[in-house]
Amino acid sequence: MSTTKSVSVLGSTGSIGTQTLQIAAELPEQFRVVALSAGRNLDLLEQQVRQHRPQAVALAAAELLPNLRQRLNDLRPRPELLAGAEGVAAVAAWPTAQLVVTGIVGCAGLLPTMAAIEAGKDLALANKETLIAAGPVVLPALQRSGSRLLPADSEHSAIFQCLQGTPQPRKAQLSTGVPTPGLRRILLTASGGAFRSWEADALQKVTVADAVKHPNWSMGRKITVDSATLMNKGLEVIEAHYLFGMGFDDIEIVIHPQSIIHSLVELADSSVLAQLGWPDMRLPLLYALSWPKRLPTPWRRLDLAAIGRLDFQAPDARKYPCMDLAYAAGRQGGTMPAVLNAANEQAVALFLEERIHFLDIPRLIERTCDQHRRDWHGAPDLDLVLKVDGWARQKVGELQAQAVVTG
Ligand SMILES: NC(=O)c1ccc[n+]([C@@H]2O[C@H](COP(=O)([O-])OP(=O)(O)OC[C@H]3O[C@@H](n4cnc5c(N)ncnc54)[C@H](OP(=O)(O)O)[C@@H]3O)[C@@H](O)[C@H]2O)c1
Repeated sequence: MSTTKSVSVLGSTGSIGTQTLQIAAELPEQFRVVALSAGRNLDLLEQQVRQHRPQAVALAAAELLPNLRQRLNDLRPRPELLAGAEGVAAVAAWPTAQLVVTGIVGCAGLLPTMAAIEAGKDLALANKETLIAAGPVVLPALQRSGSRLLPADSEHSAIFQCLQGTPQPRKAQLSTGVPTPGLRRILLTASGGAFRSWEADALQKVTVADAVKHPNWSMGRKITVDSATLMNKGLEVIEAHYLFGMGFDDIEIVIHPQSIIHSLVELADSSVLAQLGWPDMRLPLLYALSWPKRLPTPWRRLDLAAIGRLDFQAPDARKYPCMDLAYAAGRQGGTMPAVLNAANEQAVALFLEERIHFLDIPRLIERTCDQHRRDWHGAPDLDLVLKVDGWARQKVGELQAQAVVTG
């Protein structure tokens, strides 16, 4: 029986997608890429198809399909070419794929993720926005289908890795929404993002170019801005709540500028376990792909003496208001995290288009969450999640047009 794992990669042209494909190229006996999906980057997608020869390829931008077809006309055998949301969902549920890497950015990943779960695929979860917006929908769907959610976000991978050493049944280590036995506290490390050394008052002068320069990680633009506002860490708090079943009082954020410790867990006996490594997303991705195995790699080994020191400090809530907004939305639960997430996606998009100021991002999110309170629902279904997601995006646009913000 072949031990090669068949993988479908959603968002193959992004930072997560390209790193997943690098791993597959380095370890061809372990992983075979059977399906790919991208948004609209035809040049890179064409190269990837020629290199990995998947059985199916989907392009979210359906209008570009004829162009892709023309570019791949000489390939034999020809991959099945699909387009639009349905095409991406088909790649997510591709019959020969055993595991799906979710590298689409934002809530656009929700329907493909649901398609993968309904098809019983295991998931390497990078697309955190999906779980945050739709935790109450995704978790029961996982239980019904038996799909396993393997964290690929570096912090959640670190927690997951630390928990492998605790004496629990294996099933519980893959739990979703159920308290993890013996786990007392989660400590999520945060680099502090692009502005960690800036005074809070200096943030008035932030430009887009400043915000998209991450000190430690190379990632897509949206998550890099989320790191600068610390919304990324706030979203990860909600992600940790859903993945490991912890209450919000037991999930803490600590600033760790070197990004060497990727997160820590405190166990019932007060012992604290940490996972360390260079800031390199390939490692959590590889572990999500290979779990429960550990595969040998030739990658650069950690050198603590060269690093010299590891620093920690409490995050400054005044400088990073998005963090408290995320905790509040997570605590309220139901539809509120979906509204928080959609408002953030929309506000970050406006910021990247230079239509609002960096400091308007938390203002817009807060106003949008406030206005959702009267329509809040504690147990949304998928339709309601999609509805409040659309409402929040529209609300952010309206607030911006009413010049509620400074930009
Ligand atoms: N990058 C990291 O190191 C990192 C770490 C932890 C977690 N994550 C999470 O992983 C996810 C991806 O992040 P990223 O940094 O890889 O983002 P990215 O570099 O911006 O890539 C996003 C990918 O999604 C595709 N895409 C965009 N809109 C789409 C749509 N409407 N439908 C289908 N595909 C669409 C893009 O296609 P085109 O480019 O072809 O248009 C691209 O392939 C995010 O949820 C992020 O929070 C990322």
